[in-house]
Amino acid sequence: ATAMGIEEALLLHLQSHAAIVDSGDWAARSSFDHGAVMDVIKSLQGSGFVEAQSIKRNSWILTAEGESYAVRGSPEFQVFQAVPPEGISRVELEKKLEASVFKIGTGKAMKNKWLESLKGGTLLRKVQGVTDEVKLQLLEIRDGQHVEVPDNAITDLKNRKLIESRTWVGYSLKKGPKYAPKRVKPATDLTREILQSGEWKEREFKPYNYKALGQPTEGGHLHPLLKVRTQFRSIFLEMGFEEMPTNNFVESSFWNFDALFQPQMHPARDSHDTFFLKAPARTHKLPEDYLERVRRTHEEGGYGSIGYGYDWKRDEAEKNLLRTHTTAVSSRMLYKLAQDKFVPKRYFSIDRVFRNEAVDRTHLAEFHQIEGLVCDRGLTLGDLIGVLNDFFSRLGIKKLRFKPAYNPYTEPSMEIFSYHETLKKWVEVGNSGMFRPEMLQPMGLPADVSVIAWGLSLERPTMILYGIDNIRDLFGHKVDLKLIKSNPICRLGIH
Ligand code: PHE
Repeated sequence: ATAMGIEEALLLHLQSHAAIVDSGDWAARSSFDHGAVMDVIKSLQGSGFVEAQSIKRNSWILTAEGESYAVRGSPEFQVFQAVPPEGISRVELEKKLEASVFKIGTGKAMKNKWLESLKGGTLLRKVQGVTDEVKLQLLEIRDGQHVEVPDNAITDLKNRKLIESRTWVGYSLKKGPKYAPKRVKPATDLTREILQSGEWKEREFKPYNYKALGQPTEGGHLHPLLKVRTQFRSIFLEMGFEEMPTNNFVESSFWNFDALFQPQMHPARDSHDTFFLKAPARTHKLPEDYLERVRRTHEEGGYGSIGYGYDWKRDEAEKNLLRTHTTAVSSRMLYKLAQDKFVPKRYFSIDRVFRNEAVDRTHLAEFHQIEGLVCDRGLTLGDLIGVLNDFFSRLGIKKLRFKPAYNPYTEPSMEIFSYHETLKKWVEVGNSGMFRPEMLQPMGLPADVSVIAWGLSLERPTMILYGIDNIRDLFGHKVDLKLIKSNPICRLGIH
Protein backbone atom coordinates (compact mmCIF):
# COMPACT_ATOMS: atom_id res chain seq x y z
CA ALA A 1 0.00 0.00 0.00
CA THR A 2 1.15 3.52 -0.67
CA ALA A 3 1.50 6.07 2.13
CA MET A 4 -1.58 7.77 0.66
CA GLY A 5 -3.57 4.48 0.85
CA ILE A 6 -2.48 3.88 4.44
CA GLU A 7 -3.36 7.46 5.40
CA GLU A 8 -6.85 7.18 3.89
CA ALA A 9 -7.54 3.86 5.60
CA LEU A 10 -6.30 5.13 8.95
CA LEU A 11 -8.33 8.35 8.92
CA LEU A 12 -11.40 6.42 7.78
CA HIS A 13 -10.94 3.94 10.63
CA LEU A 14 -10.76 6.76 13.17
CA GLN A 15 -14.00 8.20 11.80
CA SER A 16 -15.95 5.23 13.17
CA HIS A 17 -13.65 4.15 16.02
CA ALA A 18 -12.61 6.08 19.09
CA ALA A 19 -9.00 4.98 18.87
CA ILE A 20 -6.43 2.63 17.51
CA VAL A 21 -5.03 1.05 20.64
CA ASP A 22 -2.09 -0.63 19.00
CA SER A 23 -0.69 0.38 15.62
CA GLY A 24 0.96 -3.05 15.30
CA ASP A 25 -2.34 -4.92 15.57
CA TRP A 26 -4.06 -2.48 13.23
CA ALA A 27 -1.28 -2.79 10.66
CA ALA A 28 -1.39 -6.60 10.82
CA ARG A 29 -5.17 -6.69 10.49
CA SER A 30 -5.09 -4.29 7.53
CA SER A 31 -2.09 -6.08 5.98
CA PHE A 32 0.04 -2.95 6.02
CA ASP A 33 3.71 -2.84 6.74
CA HIS A 34 4.04 -1.53 10.29
CA GLY A 35 7.04 0.67 9.45
CA ALA A 36 5.03 2.43 6.72
CA VAL A 37 2.09 2.85 9.11
CA MET A 38 4.41 4.45 11.68
CA ASP A 39 5.62 6.99 9.09
CA VAL A 40 2.04 7.92 8.21
CA ILE A 41 1.14 8.34 11.90
CA LYS A 42 4.14 10.64 12.47
CA SER A 43 3.16 12.79 9.51
CA LEU A 44 -0.51 12.97 10.59
CA GLN A 45 0.52 13.82 14.13
CA GLY A 46 2.70 16.64 12.79
CA SER A 47 -0.31 18.33 11.22
CA GLY A 48 -2.61 17.67 14.18
CA PHE A 49 -4.81 15.07 12.46
CA VAL A 50 -4.13 12.47 15.14
CA GLU A 51 -2.83 12.43 18.67
CA ALA A 52 -0.44 9.55 19.12
CA GLN A 53 1.39 8.05 22.07
CA SER A 54 4.22 5.68 21.61
CA ILE A 55 3.97 2.26 23.14
CA LYS A 56 6.77 -0.19 23.74
CA ARG A 57 6.57 -3.93 24.15
CA ASN A 58 9.14 -6.54 24.67
CA SER A 59 8.65 -9.33 22.25
CA TRP A 60 10.51 -12.40 21.08
CA ILE A 61 11.90 -13.21 17.68
CA LEU A 62 13.36 -16.50 16.46
CA THR A 63 17.08 -16.95 15.98
CA ALA A 64 18.30 -18.64 12.80
CA GLU A 65 18.43 -21.95 14.68
CA GLY A 66 14.91 -21.35 16.01
CA GLU A 67 13.70 -20.63 12.47
CA SER A 68 15.06 -23.92 11.19
CA TYR A 69 13.37 -25.94 14.00
CA ALA A 70 10.10 -24.10 13.39
CA VAL A 71 10.19 -25.54 9.88
CA ARG A 72 11.81 -28.97 10.33
CA GLY A 73 10.83 -29.79 13.89
CA SER A 74 12.92 -29.77 17.07
CA PRO A 75 16.01 -32.03 17.13
CA GLU A 76 14.48 -34.28 19.82
CA PHE A 77 11.43 -34.77 17.59
CA GLN A 78 13.58 -35.50 14.56
CA VAL A 79 15.49 -38.09 16.60
CA PHE A 80 12.29 -39.72 17.86
CA GLN A 81 10.94 -39.93 14.34
CA ALA A 82 14.15 -41.58 13.17
CA VAL A 83 13.88 -44.40 15.73
CA PRO A 84 11.84 -47.31 14.30
CA PRO A 85 9.50 -49.34 16.59
CA GLU A 86 12.00 -52.24 16.69
CA GLY A 87 14.80 -49.90 17.91
CA ILE A 88 18.08 -48.84 16.34
CA SER A 89 21.75 -48.79 17.32
CA ARG A 90 23.30 -45.38 18.08
CA VAL A 91 25.72 -45.90 15.24
CA GLU A 92 22.94 -46.49 12.72
CA LEU A 93 20.89 -43.60 14.10
CA GLU A 94 23.81 -41.22 13.81
CA LYS A 95 24.11 -42.10 10.12
CA LYS A 96 20.48 -41.13 9.50
CA LEU A 97 20.67 -37.65 11.04
CA GLU A 98 22.49 -34.35 10.79
CA ALA A 99 25.36 -34.27 13.29
CA SER A 100 23.99 -31.40 15.38
CA VAL A 101 20.46 -32.84 15.38
CA PHE A 102 21.75 -36.23 16.58
CA LYS A 103 23.94 -34.62 19.21
CA ILE A 104 21.32 -32.27 20.67
CA GLY A 105 18.22 -34.38 19.98
CA THR A 106 19.26 -37.73 21.51
CA GLY A 107 19.92 -36.31 24.96
CA LYS A 108 16.72 -34.23 24.93
CA ALA A 109 14.60 -37.19 23.75
CA MET A 110 16.01 -39.34 26.58
CA LYS A 111 15.43 -36.59 29.10
CA ASN A 112 11.84 -36.26 27.84
CA LYS A 113 11.54 -40.01 28.41
CA TRP A 114 10.65 -40.47 24.76
CA LEU A 115 13.48 -42.98 24.27
CA GLU A 116 15.41 -45.44 26.38
CA SER A 117 18.87 -46.76 25.93
CA LEU A 118 19.49 -50.54 26.18
CA LYS A 119 22.78 -52.12 27.04
CA GLY A 120 24.82 -52.52 23.91
CA GLY A 121 23.80 -49.07 22.67
CA THR A 122 20.39 -49.79 21.16
CA LEU A 123 17.77 -47.03 21.39
CA LEU A 124 14.12 -47.94 21.80
CA ARG A 125 10.92 -45.85 21.79
CA LYS A 126 9.41 -45.57 25.28
CA VAL A 127 6.12 -44.02 24.11
CA GLN A 128 3.88 -44.53 21.11
CA GLY A 129 3.82 -40.97 19.84
CA VAL A 130 4.90 -37.50 20.89
CA THR A 131 3.89 -33.88 20.21
CA ASP A 132 6.63 -31.45 19.14
CA GLU A 133 5.85 -28.72 21.66
CA VAL A 134 9.04 -26.82 20.87
CA LYS A 135 8.07 -26.49 17.21
CA LEU A 136 4.56 -25.34 18.12
CA GLN A 137 5.92 -22.76 20.57
CA LEU A 138 8.34 -21.45 17.98
CA LEU A 139 5.55 -21.14 15.39
CA GLU A 140 3.34 -19.38 17.93
CA ILE A 141 6.10 -16.87 18.68
CA ARG A 142 6.86 -16.39 15.00
CA ASP A 143 3.35 -15.99 13.65
CA GLY A 144 1.00 -15.41 16.57
CA GLN A 145 -0.73 -12.11 17.32
CA HIS A 146 -0.92 -12.67 21.06
CA VAL A 147 1.68 -15.13 22.16
CA GLU A 148 0.45 -17.62 24.74
CA VAL A 149 3.59 -19.52 25.51
CA PRO A 150 4.09 -20.23 29.26
CA ASP A 151 6.93 -18.38 30.96
CA ASN A 152 8.99 -21.49 31.75
CA ALA A 153 8.85 -22.55 28.10
CA ILE A 154 10.03 -19.07 27.07
CA THR A 155 12.94 -19.40 29.50
CA ASP A 156 13.85 -22.77 28.00
CA LEU A 157 13.75 -21.47 24.43
CA LYS A 158 15.84 -18.49 25.44
CA ASN A 159 18.42 -20.70 27.16
CA ARG A 160 18.58 -22.92 24.07
CA LYS A 161 19.22 -19.70 22.05
CA LEU A 162 16.22 -20.37 19.82
CA ILE A 163 14.62 -16.99 20.56
CA GLU A 164 15.84 -13.44 21.32
CA SER A 165 14.11 -10.52 22.94
CA ARG A 166 13.39 -7.41 20.95
CA THR A 167 11.74 -4.14 21.90
CA TRP A 168 8.79 -3.45 19.72
CA VAL A 169 7.69 0.18 19.27
CA GLY A 170 4.33 1.29 18.02
CA TYR A 171 1.64 3.90 18.60
CA SER A 172 -1.62 4.18 20.33
CA LEU A 173 -3.66 6.94 18.70
CA LYS A 174 -6.91 8.86 18.52
CA LYS A 175 -8.34 11.80 16.59
CA GLY A 176 -6.31 14.98 16.89
CA PRO A 177 -7.58 18.61 17.11
CA LYS A 178 -7.35 19.02 13.30
CA TYR A 179 -8.89 15.61 12.53
CA ALA A 180 -10.78 15.26 9.25
CA PRO A 181 -11.64 12.07 7.39
CA LYS A 182 -9.39 13.21 4.57
CA ARG A 183 -6.22 15.28 4.59
CA VAL A 184 -6.01 17.81 1.78
CA LYS A 185 -2.47 19.09 1.45
CA PRO A 186 -2.28 22.91 1.36
CA ALA A 187 -1.92 24.10 -2.25
CA THR A 188 1.50 25.40 -3.20
CA ASP A 189 0.34 27.25 -6.31
CA LEU A 190 -2.69 29.22 -7.29
CA THR A 191 -3.48 27.40 -10.51
CA ARG A 192 -5.93 28.12 -13.29
CA GLU A 193 -7.99 25.11 -12.17
CA ILE A 194 -8.19 26.31 -8.55
CA LEU A 195 -9.30 29.74 -9.79
CA GLN A 196 -11.87 28.45 -12.27
CA SER A 197 -13.45 25.89 -9.94
CA GLY A 198 -13.81 28.42 -7.14
CA GLU A 199 -11.80 26.07 -4.95
CA TRP A 200 -9.59 29.01 -3.97
CA LYS A 201 -12.30 30.18 -1.55
CA GLU A 202 -11.91 27.16 0.74
CA ARG A 203 -8.54 25.77 -0.19
CA GLU A 204 -5.71 26.19 2.28
CA PHE A 205 -2.51 27.61 0.76
CA LYS A 206 0.97 26.86 1.86
CA PRO A 207 2.70 30.08 3.00
CA TYR A 208 5.65 31.28 0.96
CA ASN A 209 9.04 30.36 2.36
CA TYR A 210 11.10 33.40 1.61
CA LYS A 211 14.16 31.81 3.18
CA ALA A 212 14.21 28.81 0.84
CA LEU A 213 17.24 28.63 -1.42
CA GLY A 214 16.47 28.89 -5.08
CA GLN A 215 16.99 26.07 -7.52
CA PRO A 216 20.64 25.85 -8.50
CA THR A 217 21.01 27.40 -11.93
CA GLU A 218 21.76 24.82 -14.55
CA GLY A 219 23.50 25.43 -17.83
CA GLY A 220 26.25 27.89 -18.56
CA HIS A 221 28.23 29.83 -15.99
CA LEU A 222 30.34 32.89 -16.62
CA HIS A 223 33.99 32.86 -15.68
CA PRO A 224 34.95 35.63 -13.21
CA LEU A 225 37.15 37.23 -15.89
CA LEU A 226 34.12 37.53 -18.16
CA LYS A 227 32.02 39.05 -15.39
CA VAL A 228 34.68 41.62 -14.57
CA ARG A 229 35.18 42.31 -18.27
CA THR A 230 31.47 43.04 -18.63
CA GLN A 231 31.69 45.55 -15.79
CA PHE A 232 34.73 47.29 -17.28
CA ARG A 233 33.04 47.36 -20.64
CA SER A 234 29.98 49.07 -19.21
CA ILE A 235 32.17 51.69 -17.49
CA PHE A 236 33.83 52.46 -20.84
CA LEU A 237 30.47 52.59 -22.59
CA GLU A 238 29.07 54.94 -19.94
CA MET A 239 32.08 57.19 -20.53
CA GLY A 240 31.35 57.30 -24.27
CA PHE A 241 34.07 54.91 -25.48
CA GLU A 242 33.70 52.66 -28.54
CA GLU A 243 35.01 49.10 -28.49
CA MET A 244 37.86 48.29 -30.88
CA PRO A 245 37.86 44.99 -32.80
CA THR A 246 40.38 42.71 -31.08
CA ASN A 247 39.69 39.49 -32.95
CA ASN A 248 43.23 38.91 -34.21
CA PHE A 249 45.62 37.28 -31.77
CA VAL A 250 48.18 36.98 -34.56
CA GLU A 251 49.74 40.31 -35.46
CA SER A 252 52.71 41.46 -37.48
CA SER A 253 55.67 43.02 -35.71
CA PHE A 254 54.87 46.09 -37.75
CA TRP A 255 51.59 46.87 -35.96
CA ASN A 256 52.70 45.47 -32.63
CA PHE A 257 56.06 47.30 -32.47
CA ASP A 258 57.21 49.38 -35.48
CA ALA A 259 54.04 51.48 -35.80
CA LEU A 260 54.47 52.24 -32.09
CA PHE A 261 57.98 53.66 -32.68
CA GLN A 262 59.49 50.73 -30.82
CA PRO A 263 63.01 50.25 -32.22
CA GLN A 264 63.81 46.91 -33.86
CA MET A 265 66.67 46.21 -31.43
CA HIS A 266 64.36 46.68 -28.44
CA PRO A 267 64.67 43.70 -26.01
CA ALA A 268 60.89 43.07 -26.02
CA ARG A 269 61.27 42.04 -29.66
CA ASP A 270 63.44 39.11 -28.66
CA SER A 271 62.01 35.58 -28.86
CA HIS A 272 62.62 35.30 -25.10
CA ASP A 273 59.87 37.84 -24.53
CA THR A 274 57.61 37.35 -27.54
CA PHE A 275 56.04 34.32 -29.24
CA PHE A 276 56.90 34.48 -32.94
CA LEU A 277 54.97 32.37 -35.45
CA LYS A 278 56.60 29.70 -37.61
CA ALA A 279 53.68 29.46 -40.01
CA PRO A 280 52.69 31.83 -41.40
CA ALA A 281 55.97 33.42 -40.40
CA ARG A 282 55.43 36.72 -42.18
CA THR A 283 52.93 39.39 -43.17
CA HIS A 284 53.69 40.72 -46.64
CA LYS A 285 50.75 43.05 -47.10
CA LEU A 286 51.41 46.28 -45.24
CA PRO A 287 50.37 49.85 -46.16
CA GLU A 288 53.40 50.84 -48.24
CA ASP A 289 53.29 54.66 -47.94
CA TYR A 290 52.80 54.47 -44.23
CA LEU A 291 55.49 51.78 -43.87
CA GLU A 292 57.89 54.07 -45.66
CA ARG A 293 57.11 56.94 -43.25
CA VAL A 294 57.59 54.59 -40.27
CA ARG A 295 60.96 53.49 -41.68
CA ARG A 296 62.10 57.09 -42.13
CA THR A 297 60.96 58.09 -38.63
CA HIS A 298 62.85 55.19 -37.05
CA GLU A 299 65.98 55.87 -39.10
CA GLU A 300 66.20 59.65 -39.24
CA GLY A 301 63.24 61.04 -37.30
CA GLY A 302 61.06 63.93 -38.43
CA TYR A 303 58.13 65.75 -36.78
CA GLY A 304 60.68 67.37 -34.46
CA SER A 305 62.44 64.06 -33.66
CA ILE A 306 65.94 62.85 -34.56
CA GLY A 307 64.83 59.20 -34.75
CA TYR A 308 66.90 56.23 -33.60
CA GLY A 309 69.53 56.44 -36.32
CA TYR A 310 69.70 52.74 -37.21
CA ASP A 311 69.11 50.69 -40.34
CA TRP A 312 65.38 49.75 -40.24
CA LYS A 313 64.62 46.35 -41.80
CA ARG A 314 61.31 45.49 -43.44
CA ASP A 315 62.11 41.84 -42.81
CA GLU A 316 61.96 42.42 -39.05
CA ALA A 317 58.62 44.29 -39.34
CA GLU A 318 57.05 41.45 -41.34
CA LYS A 319 57.61 38.85 -38.62
CA ASN A 320 54.36 37.46 -37.27
CA LEU A 321 53.82 37.15 -33.54
CA LEU A 322 51.10 36.65 -30.95
CA ARG A 323 50.30 40.24 -30.00
CA THR A 324 52.11 41.24 -26.83
CA HIS A 325 49.71 44.07 -25.99
CA THR A 326 46.38 45.43 -27.20
CA THR A 327 48.16 48.68 -28.06
CA ALA A 328 48.74 46.88 -31.40
CA VAL A 329 44.99 47.19 -31.90
CA SER A 330 45.16 50.89 -30.98
CA SER A 331 47.86 51.50 -33.59
CA ARG A 332 45.73 49.88 -36.33
CA MET A 333 42.66 51.87 -35.27
CA LEU A 334 44.49 55.19 -35.10
CA TYR A 335 46.01 54.60 -38.53
CA LYS A 336 42.52 53.85 -39.87
CA LEU A 337 41.16 56.97 -38.21
CA ALA A 338 43.92 59.06 -39.82
CA GLN A 339 42.83 58.02 -43.31
CA ASP A 340 39.69 60.19 -43.15
CA LYS A 341 38.87 63.73 -42.11
CA PHE A 342 39.75 63.82 -38.42
CA VAL A 343 37.03 63.30 -35.82
CA PRO A 344 37.72 62.94 -32.07
CA LYS A 345 37.37 59.39 -30.77
CA ARG A 346 37.33 57.45 -27.53
CA TYR A 347 38.29 53.82 -27.98
CA PHE A 348 38.67 50.86 -25.66
CA SER A 349 39.37 47.14 -25.82
CA ILE A 350 39.53 44.22 -23.41
CA ASP A 351 41.12 41.09 -24.80
CA ARG A 352 43.90 38.57 -24.71
CA VAL A 353 47.64 39.18 -25.13
CA PHE A 354 50.62 36.82 -25.04
CA ARG A 355 54.11 37.03 -23.55
CA ASN A 356 56.84 34.43 -23.49
CA GLU A 357 57.29 34.60 -19.73
CA ALA A 358 58.05 32.11 -16.98
CA VAL A 359 54.73 31.16 -15.37
CA ASP A 360 54.39 31.79 -11.64
CA ARG A 361 51.66 32.77 -9.16
CA THR A 362 51.29 36.24 -10.69
CA HIS A 363 52.32 35.63 -14.31
CA LEU A 364 50.84 33.64 -17.15
CA ALA A 365 51.99 33.43 -20.76
CA GLU A 366 48.57 34.66 -21.83
CA PHE A 367 46.44 37.20 -20.04
CA HIS A 368 44.00 40.00 -20.75
CA GLN A 369 44.54 43.70 -21.15
CA ILE A 370 42.13 46.55 -20.67
CA GLU A 371 43.06 49.45 -22.90
CA GLY A 372 41.55 52.90 -23.28
CA LEU A 373 42.46 55.89 -25.41
CA VAL A 374 41.13 59.36 -26.15
CA CYS A 375 42.07 61.05 -29.37
CA ASP A 376 41.38 64.77 -29.76
CA ARG A 377 42.89 68.15 -30.53
CA GLY A 378 44.86 69.83 -27.79
CA LEU A 379 44.78 67.11 -25.14
CA THR A 380 47.25 67.51 -22.28
CA LEU A 381 48.63 65.43 -19.43
CA GLY A 382 45.94 67.08 -17.28
CA ASP A 383 43.29 65.47 -19.48
CA LEU A 384 44.96 62.10 -19.03
CA ILE A 385 44.99 62.48 -15.24
CA GLY A 386 41.37 63.65 -15.31
CA VAL A 387 40.17 60.72 -17.44
CA LEU A 388 42.10 58.25 -15.27
CA ASN A 389 40.55 59.69 -12.08
CA ASP A 390 37.10 59.42 -13.64
CA PHE A 391 37.71 55.87 -14.89
CA PHE A 392 39.18 54.52 -11.66
CA SER A 393 36.66 56.24 -9.40
CA ARG A 394 33.96 54.31 -11.25
CA LEU A 395 35.77 51.18 -10.07
CA GLY A 396 35.62 52.46 -6.51
CA ILE A 397 39.29 53.52 -6.58
CA LYS A 398 39.43 57.15 -5.48
CA LYS A 399 43.06 57.71 -4.49
CA LEU A 400 45.49 57.69 -7.43
CA ARG A 401 49.15 58.57 -7.70
CA PHE A 402 51.33 58.74 -10.78
CA LYS A 403 54.97 57.91 -11.25
CA PRO A 404 57.04 58.89 -14.29
CA ALA A 405 57.77 55.85 -16.43
CA TYR A 406 59.08 54.90 -19.85
CA ASN A 407 57.31 53.39 -22.86
CA PRO A 408 58.81 53.61 -26.36
CA TYR A 409 55.49 54.95 -27.69
CA THR A 410 54.41 57.42 -24.98
CA GLU A 411 55.92 60.63 -23.71
CA PRO A 412 55.32 61.50 -20.99
CA SER A 413 54.51 58.09 -19.50
CA MET A 414 53.07 57.41 -16.08
CA GLU A 415 52.60 54.33 -13.97
CA ILE A 416 49.30 54.48 -12.09
CA PHE A 417 49.21 53.58 -8.39
CA SER A 418 46.21 53.27 -6.13
CA TYR A 419 46.09 53.01 -2.37
CA HIS A 420 45.04 49.50 -1.34
CA GLU A 421 42.96 49.80 1.84
CA THR A 422 43.53 46.22 3.01
CA LEU A 423 47.18 45.91 2.01
CA LYS A 424 47.72 49.43 3.39
CA LYS A 425 50.07 50.35 0.62
CA TRP A 426 50.22 51.85 -2.85
CA VAL A 427 49.91 49.21 -5.58
CA GLU A 428 50.47 49.59 -9.31
CA VAL A 429 47.19 49.36 -11.19
CA GLY A 430 48.18 50.41 -14.69
CA ASN A 431 50.38 52.17 -17.17
CA SER A 432 49.60 55.24 -19.23
CA GLY A 433 50.92 58.06 -21.35
CA MET A 434 50.52 60.35 -24.32
CA PHE A 435 51.33 58.73 -27.65
CA ARG A 436 54.43 60.22 -29.24
CA PRO A 437 54.26 62.39 -32.38
CA GLU A 438 56.72 59.86 -33.90
CA MET A 439 53.89 57.33 -33.66
CA LEU A 440 50.90 59.53 -34.57
CA GLN A 441 52.19 61.77 -37.33
CA PRO A 442 53.46 59.10 -39.76
CA MET A 443 49.88 57.72 -39.59
CA GLY A 444 48.64 61.00 -41.02
CA LEU A 445 46.93 62.45 -37.95
CA PRO A 446 46.94 66.27 -37.85
CA ALA A 447 49.85 67.71 -35.87
CA ASP A 448 47.59 69.26 -33.19
CA VAL A 449 45.89 65.92 -32.43
CA SER A 450 47.05 64.21 -29.24
CA VAL A 451 46.18 60.78 -27.90
CA ILE A 452 46.09 59.92 -24.22
CA ALA A 453 46.05 56.24 -23.42
CA TRP A 454 46.28 53.73 -20.61
CA GLY A 455 46.35 50.02 -20.07
CA LEU A 456 45.92 47.54 -17.24
CA SER A 457 45.48 43.83 -16.82
CA LEU A 458 42.06 42.28 -16.34
CA GLU A 459 43.47 39.53 -14.11
CA ARG A 460 44.79 41.80 -11.36
CA PRO A 461 41.46 43.45 -10.41
CA THR A 462 39.64 40.12 -10.85
CA MET A 463 41.99 38.40 -8.42
CA ILE A 464 41.49 41.19 -5.90
CA LEU A 465 37.69 41.15 -6.32
CA TYR A 466 37.40 37.36 -6.02
CA GLY A 467 40.11 36.91 -3.39
CA ILE A 468 42.27 34.68 -5.59
CA ASP A 469 45.99 34.86 -4.85
CA ASN A 470 47.33 32.50 -7.51
CA ILE A 471 46.64 33.46 -11.11
CA ARG A 472 46.71 29.77 -12.08
CA ASP A 473 43.54 29.27 -9.99
CA LEU A 474 41.84 31.92 -12.13
CA PHE A 475 42.90 31.07 -15.66
CA GLY A 476 44.27 28.02 -17.42
CA HIS A 477 43.98 24.28 -17.14
CA LYS A 478 44.18 24.14 -13.33
CA VAL A 479 41.01 26.13 -12.77
CA ASP A 480 38.47 24.40 -10.52
CA LEU A 481 35.17 24.17 -12.39
CA LYS A 482 33.28 24.51 -9.11
CA LEU A 483 34.69 28.02 -8.79
CA ILE A 484 33.21 28.87 -12.17
CA LYS A 485 29.82 27.49 -11.16
CA SER A 486 29.57 29.19 -7.80
CA ASN A 487 31.40 32.53 -8.04
CA PRO A 488 29.23 35.53 -7.18
CA ILE A 489 28.23 38.38 -9.46
CA CYS A 490 30.73 41.15 -9.97
CA ARG A 491 29.95 44.60 -8.54
CA LEU A 492 32.61 47.16 -9.21
CA GLY A 493 32.74 50.48 -7.44
CA ILE A 494 30.81 49.36 -4.35
CA HIS A 495 32.99 49.21 -1.27
N1 PHE B 1 50.82 48.68 -23.75
C1 PHE B 1 51.20 48.94 -22.39
C2 PHE B 1 51.53 47.61 -21.70
O1 PHE B 1 51.45 46.59 -22.33
C3 PHE B 1 50.11 49.64 -21.64
C4 PHE B 1 49.93 51.03 -22.15
C5 PHE B 1 48.86 51.29 -22.96
C6 PHE B 1 50.78 52.05 -21.81
C7 PHE B 1 48.64 52.56 -23.44
C8 PHE B 1 50.59 53.32 -22.26
C9 PHE B 1 49.52 53.58 -23.07
O2 PHE B 1 51.85 47.57 -20.51
